[in-house]
Amino acid sequence: MEKILDIISRKMAEAFEKAGFDAAYGKVTVSNRPDLCQYQCNGALAAAKVYKCAPIQIANAVAEQLDKADFSMCEAVMPGFINLKLSDSFLQSYLEDTRTAPDFGVAKPGNGKTAVVDYGGANVAKPLHIGHLRPAIIGEALKRLHKFLGYNTIGDVHLGDWGLQMGLIIAELQERQPDLCYFDPDYTGEYPTESPFTLTELEEIYPTASSKKSDPEFAEKAHIATYELQQGRRGYRAIWNHIMGISLPDLRRIYGILDVHFEKWLGESDADPYIPAMVEDLKDRGFAVQSAGAWVIPVAEETDKKEVPPCILVKSDGSAIYATTDLATMVQRTQDWNPDKMLYVTDKRQNLHFEQIFRAAKKSGIVKEHVQLDHVGHGTMNGADGKPFKTRDGGVLRLEQLINDMTDFVRTKVVENKIVDESEVEATTAKIALAALKYGDLSNQPTKDYNFDLERFAAFEGNTGPYILYTVVRIKSILARYGAWEHLPIAVPANPYATDLMLAITKLGPTLEAALSALAPNMICAYIYELAGAVNKFYHETRILSEEDKTLQAGYISLIGLAKNILETCMDILGFSAPEKM
Ligand code: ARG
Repeated sequence: MEKILDIISRKMAEAFEKAGFDAAYGKVTVSNRPDLCQYQCNGALAAAKVYKCAPIQIANAVAEQLDKADFSMCEAVMPGFINLKLSDSFLQSYLEDTRTAPDFGVAKPGNGKTAVVDYGGANVAKPLHIGHLRPAIIGEALKRLHKFLGYNTIGDVHLGDWGLQMGLIIAELQERQPDLCYFDPDYTGEYPTESPFTLTELEEIYPTASSKKSDPEFAEKAHIATYELQQGRRGYRAIWNHIMGISLPDLRRIYGILDVHFEKWLGESDADPYIPAMVEDLKDRGFAVQSAGAWVIPVAEETDKKEVPPCILVKSDGSAIYATTDLATMVQRTQDWNPDKMLYVTDKRQNLHFEQIFRAAKKSGIVKEHVQLDHVGHGTMNGADGKPFKTRDGGVLRLEQLINDMTDFVRTKVVENKIVDESEVEATTAKIALAALKYGDLSNQPTKDYNFDLERFAAFEGNTGPYILYTVVRIKSILARYGAWEHLPIAVPANPYATDLMLAITKLGPTLEAALSALAPNMICAYIYELAGAVNKFYHETRILSEEDKTLQAGYISLIGLAKNILETCMDILGFSAPEKM
């Protein structure tokens, strides 16, 4: 469907033309004085300079040409603005089209295109911590937004499963249990299917090993183990398989609680087979050059304000690093999926890494010129006091603990306020807690830091997830009391709150489009907050269920039904949903 501003601008352009002026002056914007009008056109001011007459004269002449069936008000005001209000019939037919069109008539710029969204950022063998909340939920929202706007989307968690952390675990395990068959180079038999460690043990082994990185002897062992693993040493591959087998189900479980789902569970290790040929090719074509024993791709550009160091392809010890696997992953994604867009959601401290690999990929042709590469670098989530989030003993808080804290807090409210029957407490709590967490995060601009404030995020009032849920639940209960409403057509009642609600609804398409191009789910949050506010205002000021004029009532019901459907659609894009009762 054509966006409402485009329709009005088109009509305005026609009026300029009919009045004898250039149609290009007919651009209409949303009014910055909503107390005076809904939309405005300032074109007469610019036109006046060219046509050498008073702007108000032009504005008057143009206003005269506008079709009165479309506008209940089209007024030329000093010095030459044209103020507009839409007619009821215009608004009604636009909203009725919105109601009946698939996906509310939102345009689908992604049709026929594929977008890969690389998000989550999990590393195997390490429990997810609070730093993994943002990339998971921002990535999931961006993926769902792309999908809604027509893209074929592939979400890939791109596990950290190939780097030094693996070598560290292997080295630590060897120190603890040197007699395990995995370490015997002459062992030729089958390796045990049972892992030599449990998840709990693994979660202890890794940090212990990591804390020993400063010991040069241990670090050397870990580096060698990493290299040998990557070279395919059998015993180390077997340990790697155990680590994956233990770690993955747990990662899936926690992402599952967050309603975050990946189409692909590939990792750095899956890029490995693509590395040798890629490196050879980059050397052959002269893109990779030698530097202090390593192979690097120079990516500095003349216009750089800050130094952009070369992208390291192969380290001097022959091992692959983060950039290598990322470039090889681009080779794999291009071969397998031929995407039009690749989107990466990580902490913004990785900005330089992505700048380097994007440049290397583009200049070497690993990724074709037309393919859009984007890095959404998110800010940090701090504690409520604005300081880095730490556990009482100074450690990093686990993501699962954060989710549990939020869930416990919400559960207490649900129980205290007797919101639902006992059997439904858990399901209702989970939905509210998820909305609180996700909205609390997504309502911030991704690049900005924010403070995690459990109580504020979980509040049922204010700019929060639960407030949005509450609005939806309230509408649902009115609709349920009314009866069948799905087929009722939109009818514009002479009610200013209904008009405001309708105007808010018309912003759906432009909002999603803007959120897509800015990669900013926060715009969708701001939109549903505005829409929820408009619904609540309308509800407060209007008798709906007790309205005696049945035609009028049907129009009200149809309108709030449409608002509910739009709220639910936006919530689904953001990755949460409303319970039945609240
Ligand atoms: N595992 C990485 C980390 O912990 C994030 C991976 C992001 N994706 C990528 N393709 N580099 O920092």
